[in-house]
Amino acid sequence: MLLNVKQYGDPVLRAVSAPVEHITDDLKNLVENMLETMYATEGIGLAAPQIGLNIRLVVIDIPEDEEEGTEPEMITVNGEQKPMRSIMPLAFINPELEPYGEQYLFTEGCLSVRGIRANVSRPDRVRARLTLLDGSVLELDCGGLLARCLQHECDHLDGFLFVDRVSSAAKITLSKKLKKLAATR
Ligand code: NI
Repeated sequence: MLLNVKQYGDPVLRAVSAPVEHITDDLKNLVENMLETMYATEGIGLAAPQIGLNIRLVVIDIPEDEEEGTEPEMITVNGEQKPMRSIMPLAFINPELEPYGEQYLFTEGCLSVRGIRANVSRPDRVRARLTLLDGSVLELDCGGLLARCLQHECDHLDGFLFVDRVSSAAKITLSKKLKKLAATR
């Protein structure tokens, strides 16, 4: 079932979400619907506040870089090197993130901020502790798009959007567009 993706200006996107305490069948159904919604809108990540629920739940599915000659991207999963794709799609609750490394600029967009893309500076690596829906825990150490996506999605759980993290000059440029978005959501 496709879910309604909340848009910029909706207060649900600005609240701090509560930890998930029980992994229920309802939660698993919700994850299926979130994935379906994410695929239908061609997103690579979706956080529960974006579909109107202030709980610490995220889904992510990052495609393999299909450029010819590229090696499969490897990440550290519970201390072992594994292909990034081997843990996709990823659904997790109550993430703990520790971004580290060099700051770098990358263009981000968001299913809740339609029509806007902007450069955001974030650390290029992340250590993460994620609880999966079978109750197991994944400890990741990664870079690349997954590190970027984890930071973007986990920001949603604390009421932050990527447009909060752009340069002050970009904020001025975006402010008109954002006001318009909030007025027409
Ligand atoms: Ni987003």
